[in-house]
Amino acid sequence: MPENTFLKGPADWWRQAVIYQIYPRSFADGNGDGIGDLKGVLERVPYLKSLGIDAVWFSPFYPSALADGGYDVDDYRNIDPRIGTLEEFDQVLDALHNVGIRVIIDIVPNHSGSGHKWFQEALKAAPGSPERDRYIFRDGKGEHGEIRPSELVSHFGPTAWTRITEPDGTPGQWYMHLFASEQPDWNWDNEEVRADFRKTIKFWCDRGVDGYRVDVAHALIKDLKNGHLPERSSYDVKVMKKDGTDDLFDRDEVHEIYASWREIFNQYEPPRMGVAEAWVHGNRRPAYASEKGLGQSFNFDMLYAGWDLKKVKELAKNNLKAAAETGSSTTWVLSNHDVIRHVTRFAVPGIHDWARWYRENRFDPKLDLELGSARAKAMTMLLLALPGSTYMYQGEELGLPEVLDIQPKDMQDPSFFRNPEVGLSRDGCRVPLPWATSGSSFGFGTGGSHLPMPEWYGKYSVAAEDGQKGSFLEFYREIVALRKKLQTKEEIKWVGHGLFSKVIHFARPNGWQSITNFGSKPVKLPAGKLLSSSTPLVDGKLPANATAWLQA
Ligand code: GLC
Ligand code: CA
Repeated sequence: MPENTFLKGPADWWRQAVIYQIYPRSFADGNGDGIGDLKGVLERVPYLKSLGIDAVWFSPFYPSALADGGYDVDDYRNIDPRIGTLEEFDQVLDALHNVGIRVIIDIVPNHSGSGHKWFQEALKAAPGSPERDRYIFRDGKGEHGEIRPSELVSHFGPTAWTRITEPDGTPGQWYMHLFASEQPDWNWDNEEVRADFRKTIKFWCDRGVDGYRVDVAHALIKDLKNGHLPERSSYDVKVMKKDGTDDLFDRDEVHEIYASWREIFNQYEPPRMGVAEAWVHGNRRPAYASEKGLGQSFNFDMLYAGWDLKKVKELAKNNLKAAAETGSSTTWVLSNHDVIRHVTRFAVPGIHDWARWYRENRFDPKLDLELGSARAKAMTMLLLALPGSTYMYQGEELGLPEVLDIQPKDMQDPSFFRNPEVGLSRDGCRVPLPWATSGSSFGFGTGGSHLPMPEWYGKYSVAAEDGQKGSFLEFYREIVALRKKLQTKEEIKWVGHGLFSKVIHFARPNGWQSITNFGSKPVKLPAGKLLSSSTPLVDGKLPANATAWLQA
């Protein structure tokens, strides 16, 4: 392992950080095979540094059959050969650390990939064996076990149960998978499973990673006692119990697991951090963010807030309050690898059911991209000025819109295939980044790209925006740097402008103010020195769909 691999610094570096998510297969392709890789990341470290970010979060880079974009992990302590090697990982880690950027990696503990050694062993072993007990195998109902064990749907399609063929060739038991059938759920009541994950956590901590993003953190423990099996036809959070006794999600016992990881995190200097992807009731989120657990928990509320003053303000207040109650800080997210890019979302006002909009409009979407871009910038500035961390998704710094018109033959996402009538493909936000204005894959690599890149992509490339005054990229660089300079205590004072006001205005303890105009007419700015605005002022006023930062 290279020397320099640990980054010292304050234990609370993550509390108000800017974290940039890399989806490794789509970031940069260093060897020209059309798939992003670690070599590509290594070459782009100067670019990452130029963004002024504090950390990167890597979506999974583990060996995987890619049934779910790498969230089907076949080996938790290795790198997919198409993405690189452990040595290359060390090099990337080292290079990032050398420019002061920390590294968070994705860990996927609810399920493995079906190629995982232990799942393969389970298939070969007998029903009731210790090998099968690491996953959730059950006999089917009906005379010949031909009926699935319970009426549990999967996130990606009709059922969460798949029947296997026993080693002797007869139709056999069923196993549970909350996601694709290539993603068998682990049995977290099994001590070996727990121990193996602790080993994984330690493995990457020892290599020098600074933290973990924990996939589907609320699902690990299920109530499987006395033959019970959860049944569910919807994954709407509303149907989940709020008191930790739901039979499928967010059970109180899950926190024992994170407490045991915390013990490992705290053996390092500074302690490692975790951020939970937990789709749970707001009142239940704090437990994942406890300092006895992972430390931080995603709040995804802004993904669905739209451009709505009342909602944005209410969600901001609620999340800040919830974070304060746990002693953690909150997280602001406008985009990630699972949702339609926010420039596009803001370009079609008033939509609530995005899956439906996508299915009905994606080949003729009628986007107001100018509006989308203005609101995207304004919302980004608003969120960056709030206390807490901001997680950004690769490409948002370029103002990339969603690629909506990918043909089904080119799609990879199981949530589309398994749910053709209702699903939304997440491929459109996973199209590789454009680095150059032209070329077969716009500088992503030399050998094409694993998802098709549209003609208009070059306009949004790094090469087109780099050094261009007024470009999205320069806007991001400027405000991220400015935020770093202005960053202060995690406190906020809301400034009211009367009942009919169309602005969200707040001040931080050092006089840093942020004001966003949600109305349709320009508004007067409060007193203070203008530091930056997402759209140039008009006659000294803040235009509609814009945010300004001021120093009182
Ligand atoms: C998380 C990931 C998503 C993945 C799912 C199953 O929600 O963000 O991409 O499909 O978990 O691992
Ligand atoms: Ca490659």
